[in-house]
Amino acid sequence: MPPSRPSRPPPAALLLAPILVVLATPLLGGHRSAGAQSEAQSGAEAEGQDEAEQTYLADCASCHGAEGGGTNRGPTLVGVGKASTYYYLSTGRMPIDEPNADIKRADPPYSPELVEALVDYVDGFGGGGPDLPHLSPEEAGLGKGGRVYRAQCASCHTTAGGGGALLRQEAPPVYHATPAEAAAAIRVGPGTMPAFGEAALTDEELNDVVAYVEYLSSPQDRGGQPLWHLGPLIEGLVGWVVGLGLLVLLALWIGKPT
Ligand code: HEC
Ligand code: HEC
Repeated sequence: MPPSRPSRPPPAALLLAPILVVLATPLLGGHRSAGAQSEAQSGAEAEGQDEAEQTYLADCASCHGAEGGGTNRGPTLVGVGKASTYYYLSTGRMPIDEPNADIKRADPPYSPELVEALVDYVDGFGGGGPDLPHLSPEEAGLGKGGRVYRAQCASCHTTAGGGGALLRQEAPPVYHATPAEAAAAIRVGPGTMPAFGEAALTDEELNDVVAYVEYLSSPQDRGGQPLWHLGPLIEGLVGWVVGLGLLVLLALWIGKPT
């Protein structure tokens, strides 16, 4: 009688399986609370609109009028477009104390959520002007953006983006603007900056030049491989997926019958 073969130890793949399940759980479970979340969201939206109305009446109406039609202290906001309101609020240029106060970048007094709600509220007076541009950093071409920047922007903001003195108004450095603010500025043309409509800069060129402005803003990224500042969540996810892939490969390799 042949000696019975010693039973093979369970393949390492089986041992690793529970680990994979545990690792994958947060991803799969992410959808469970979606319903409750969106309910809470629409409640928050209504609240945001109330807050936006109160803020507008308290902080803006004295100059821009209760219906946005303008007064002798400030221009009409009817038809300015979402990009304009977003630019002025997100960069803290509005509100000002006096009609002829200096309009410069400052810490915005409002949360990003309230800015968003105010943008919608002002748009309710009547749309028309440029909307918030859509950006897709992963499709942007830095080289092309650099060419647009040197041709259209460097004369005022300097090649390195540090800004410079103009005849009537100083061109600010581009470093402090977020991509969304830069994109809004380009379409809006605030102050003495010209507005670049779609005839002057296509959406693609705008996307490229905004990426280039981002690049000028973060010299520490030069030579590195920034994940386009997508934030820790995405960057973590990328690392996590790569790690999971390696784990699966390892499991397959260990579990291979010899
Ligand atoms: C003390 C008066 C005053 C207050 C308060 C004020 N603004 Fe203004 N606002 C102005 C003036 C004056 C301008 C024109 C600035 C310029 O371009 O020289 C302006 C410009 C703007 C523009 C650009 C309009 C355009 O034609 O593109 C927006 C948008 C705006 N304000 C929004 C707001 C909002 C929203 C608030 C409240 C949070 C606010 N402002 C508070 C006086 C005021
Ligand atoms: C004629 C000069 C001029 C040109 C050309 C010009 N800008 Fe500007 N830019 C300005 C001025 C002036 C401001 C400040 C406007 C204000 O008061 O809000 C500004 C504001 C900005 C801001 C906002 C900075 C901040 O602090 O929030 C950005 C970003 C910007 N410009 C990028 C660009 C880009 C990109 C181009 C080329 C596509 C460009 N600009 C072309 C003069 C110019």
